[in-house]
Amino acid sequence: MCLQALNTLALPAVAKQFLCFENEAQLPELQEKIQTSSKRWVLGGGSNMVMADTVDALLIHMQNKGIRLIAQQGDEVWVEAQAGEVWHDFVHYCLDQGWYGLENLALIPGTVGAAPVQNIGAYGIELQQVVHAVKVWDFLTAQYLWLDTADCQFAYRDSFFKRAPQGRYMIVAVQFKLVTAGAWTPILRYPDLQHHPLLQKTPITAQAVFQAVMAIRQQKLPDPAVLANAGSFFKNPIVTTAHYEQLLAQYPDLVAYPYQGQYKLAAGWLIDHAGWKGKRLGPVGMHKNQALVLVNYGGARAADVAALVQQVQQQVFELFQVQLEQEPIAVQ
Ligand code: EPU
Repeated sequence: MCLQALNTLALPAVAKQFLCFENEAQLPELQEKIQTSSKRWVLGGGSNMVMADTVDALLIHMQNKGIRLIAQQGDEVWVEAQAGEVWHDFVHYCLDQGWYGLENLALIPGTVGAAPVQNIGAYGIELQQVVHAVKVWDFLTAQYLWLDTADCQFAYRDSFFKRAPQGRYMIVAVQFKLVTAGAWTPILRYPDLQHHPLLQKTPITAQAVFQAVMAIRQQKLPDPAVLANAGSFFKNPIVTTAHYEQLLAQYPDLVAYPYQGQYKLAAGWLIDHAGWKGKRLGPVGMHKNQALVLVNYGGARAADVAALVQQVQQQVFELFQVQLEQEPIAVQ
């Protein structure tokens, strides 16, 4: 099965075994199939993956759909979405129902089920702030588990799911805790939002925040349907205060944010200042508007990506003594 259309970097990977997961009735078949496959990967929108030429595993493509209101109490609502729902469509649907809290996470590529894995975050909100519980299928014990936010061990672009034994769990649904208009307050900490023309008129609505986030993303980030990419390719690195101060003395325009007693550096700034913004290496390159985004101009394979990653990491390290960590998962 060729996976080129199923990963947003458009790498022409081939999976040894493939199964489309649409509903629970397939679980017995799935449990049987995993006995004969050495490894398995769960695939959502393929927007946070770097696929090897051959994926020697069973690939499970999540296609289960459905969104339902579970409970409402005053201004609070609990909503469940199946893993295969497209993330942005889910955000839009909630907004239309008057269930707020997801608008800053508009237009993030991928699916609902993939969102907890890397604890997606943008424009002042991380998924962990809106998740209530995550339903997973445990392949080892052949049963469902419900994980609460503590079980999920969320951190910056990280969670329990990234550290769990490879292929053991499959996220099948996610429950969210959202609010209705009466309890909603806009989150506008992010400078791009504070100054956005759509957000200068009061009262600020969730719809206006949703529109502003989409406008900012469309301006900065390439649409994977037009130019293949996997979003931010590296995590924003966290350094000690001493390291930050030493870099700031050398580079006064360095972009960084205080983070849990340390500093988080803007990896896009580091890559940009290492000269990689808009620069190509063979069929891949770092994007011209956002140097943190690795793009495939066409025809790239995993080895091309790896060659660019190695060069960018090396040059950023030589200049700033900072080791950039790849964010998308290497699927092989
Ligand atoms: N910058 C540069 N040059 C560049 C790119 C960025 O100087 O080429 C500077 C910008 O001027 C800005 C700073 O770096 O001052 C930060 O850039 P940006 O606001 O674009 O945010 P980011 O830190 O690069 C993170 C997330 C994004 C998320 C945005 C908005 C990570 C790895 N990335 O990017 O997430 O949309 O903040 O909240 O944390 C993703 O994960 O795929 C993703 C797009």
